Amino acid sequence: MKEASLPASGHGAAGQASGDSSASAFPVRMAGYRERLERALESSLAPATTHPARLHTAIRYAVLGGGKRLRPLLVYATAEWLGLPAERVDAIAVAVELVHAYSLVHDDLPAMDDDDLRRGRATVHLAFDEATAILVGDALQALAYRVLAADAALVGQPEVQQQLILDLAGASGSEGMVGGQMIDIASSHLRLAPSQLEDLHARKTGRLLHAAVIMPCRLRPDLGGEGLALIDRFGRALGLAFQMADDLLDVDGRPEVLGKSGGSDARNHKATLPVLLGVEGARRRLEDVRRDAHDALARFGAEADGLRWISGWVASRDR
Ligand code: IPE
Ligand code: IPE
Ligand code: MG
Ligand code: MG
Ligand code: MG
Repeated sequence: MKEASLPASGHGAAGQASGDSSASAFPVRMAGYRERLERALESSLAPATTHPARLHTAIRYAVLGGGKRLRPLLVYATAEWLGLPAERVDAIAVAVELVHAYSLVHDDLPAMDDDDLRRGRATVHLAFDEATAILVGDALQALAYRVLAADAALVGQPEVQQQLILDLAGASGSEGMVGGQMIDIASSHLRLAPSQLEDLHARKTGRLLHAAVIMPCRLRPDLGGEGLALIDRFGRALGLAFQMADDLLDVDGRPEVLGKSGGSDARNHKATLPVLLGVEGARRRLEDVRRDAHDALARFGAEADGLRWISGWVASRDR
């Protein structure tokens, strides 16, 4: 296969597949991706009545009906950049969102951040109970890998499937998200150096966002090293920026917009960027990192507009 250093143009292939016009702005296409994702998530989950019904009801509560769906949107925007139709990446979008949903359920537990509001509703351990919340997380994690293993669009490509499973496991495991959560808890009451804090951000949040842009690239094995290196840089910077914005929103966000209580980090004495640099210093650092994400896309054309739009939104978001 001919090596392509940058993705072939073919702007909006994923948007076209979701029924939207490739000429429309990403926010317009985004609505189609969100609907598509909700349908795919819904069909990945067992009906609430499946035995044991309490567990399946809680799983559906944790996954459906809320969340910004940023990680799946990144998957679809990366597919646009790659010129891939959306149906090729649905399983990746679902798997990444399932891991994220599990991480939120566990993150809110009394032994972790002990939060009572998530996505505008009672957290899973309050709406159900703590043991059920732990099991919901366990089940969602297993389901994410099942979705990748069972996806019809991936059958017949065992090497791609294996790589996707490795990517997701690496991003979410003990050296990725879970490791980041451990460091986050161990850093409570400590003052970290800026580089230590960015390492924490990169692990607990950045790795999964990075996976959302790297995993679709596995479907384009002809993507050259240059394109991969730039999208890798974009994913890292975006992941960092996202957690920096999250820490700022915990200080000055509006709970009714955020759908979570706010003030959680201060209550738990977490090591955060606003604690280290002050709110204004944290905003400046966030802007530097956002610019790095944006600059990583400079060589691409309109096919990267979705990724550009997301990187702009991540820094200015209010939820
Ligand atoms: C919150 O993630 C947890 C972090 C990793 C910072 P999101 O802000 O993406 O949460 P939802 O999915 O929109 O609820
Ligand atoms: C959580 O970070 C990162 C995860 C892996 C879930 P936070 O604890 O800051 O996320 P929120 O603010 O509760 O959403
Ligand atoms: Mg936390
Ligand atoms: Mg939390
Ligand atoms: Mg937070």
